[in-house]
Amino acid sequence: MSELASETSVSMTGLAQRWQSALMNNYGTPPLALVRGSGAEVWDADGRRYLDLVSGIAVNALGHGHPAVLEAVTTQLRTLGHVSNLYLAEPPIALAERLLELVDAPGRVLFCNSGAEANEAAFKLARRTGRPHIIAAENAFHGRTMGALALTGQQPKRTPFEPMTPGVTHVPYGDLAALDAAVDTDTAAVFLEPILGEAGAVTPPPGYLAGAREITADRGVLLVLDEVQTGIGRTGSWFAFQRAGVLPDVITLAKGLGGGLPIGACIGIGAAGELFEPGHHGTTFGGNPVCCAAALAVLRTIADEGLLEHVTQVGKEIVTGVESLGHPLVLRVDGAGLLLGIELAEPVSTLIAAAARDGGFLVNNAVPDRVRLIPPLVLSTAQAAEFLAALPSYLDAGQVATQP
Ligand SMILES: Cc1ncc(COP(=O)(O)O)c(C=O)c1O
Repeated sequence: MSELASETSVSMTGLAQRWQSALMNNYGTPPLALVRGSGAEVWDADGRRYLDLVSGIAVNALGHGHPAVLEAVTTQLRTLGHVSNLYLAEPPIALAERLLELVDAPGRVLFCNSGAEANEAAFKLARRTGRPHIIAAENAFHGRTMGALALTGQQPKRTPFEPMTPGVTHVPYGDLAALDAAVDTDTAAVFLEPILGEAGAVTPPPGYLAGAREITADRGVLLVLDEVQTGIGRTGSWFAFQRAGVLPDVITLAKGLGGGLPIGACIGIGAAGELFEPGHHGTTFGGNPVCCAAALAVLRTIADEGLLEHVTQVGKEIVTGVESLGHPLVLRVDGAGLLLGIELAEPVSTLIAAAARDGGFLVNNAVPDRVRLIPPLVLSTAQAAEFLAALPSYLDAGQVATQP
């Protein structure tokens, strides 16, 4: 089917109706039907073009249809597709080796298929210390499976599924004294996001991660950093922990790693990498060669194209550009690299996101008082400028709604 045919053969209304009758209602019905993408652009069912500042929720690191990912996936699929962990295959080994090289510490890697699963693995790894308790942060998001949900510090997401997996305590994010007071001899691990992603790119106070490292190291407690959203170049370094100058015991990854293919990873550094024994954990698809080939292509391209520096530069341009608008609705821009949260004076992110969508820009409104920007790492300076030029009218749309 040609591109044009695929665009014209679907309509927003038709897809929405089919979605409503065939898919469970856990997401509601999305407001837009997308049919194709290229780089940081996507097109809807009517052929309208949008600049994609969401990238599949911080997933499409290289944008849509990057040739390196296409080539890696098709070559691998032609050569050897899925084999399971009953057999050796090179792609997961090469990917584990490359990730450890980037982490720059000895360790071992476990592959899975999503961020929630990476955190489930880390949760089980923590229980292997023989200590029962885990400390996580209020407002943090670690995924929707039962273990990851127990770690997630957002009560509304937990309440419908209680009772939660026991043993998890939440402390205020960014509060080292609270963390220090909560850690005791029963604590196996502290789970933290380096920046709260789903909460709208909330950066902790300076020194928070270093302080958490000190508290955990002193008491023999694992520090698990959930880099599902912050990892793989999103904040301008390979991993956000590198910006904070700390080395955790466990790192969880997903999202950007596969460049659009589903893959997650749980990395155990040093002794933490030795806690699982044969039979302790597993997943059929973990280390799937096609997903691993895609991930290797993503990592290679980030390095070859200097995307870490690019992310830092374009991120700064967006922060400066948004803050220099001087718009009364904008308090400041939080976050790092291309994980940014425009902090709003009023809880109107949904209105702003809707106005932006009507104007041809996709932004995220996961929380009411922040507009989150998580574009592909390849977003160009010109594309960032295009967004900055259009943003004031979308902010105005939000502000009008707040006036009596
Ligand atoms: C920090 C963090 N951890 C875990 C997850 C869960 O990942 P997944 O949706 O792939 O299960 C997310 C998803 O947004 C996330 O942002």
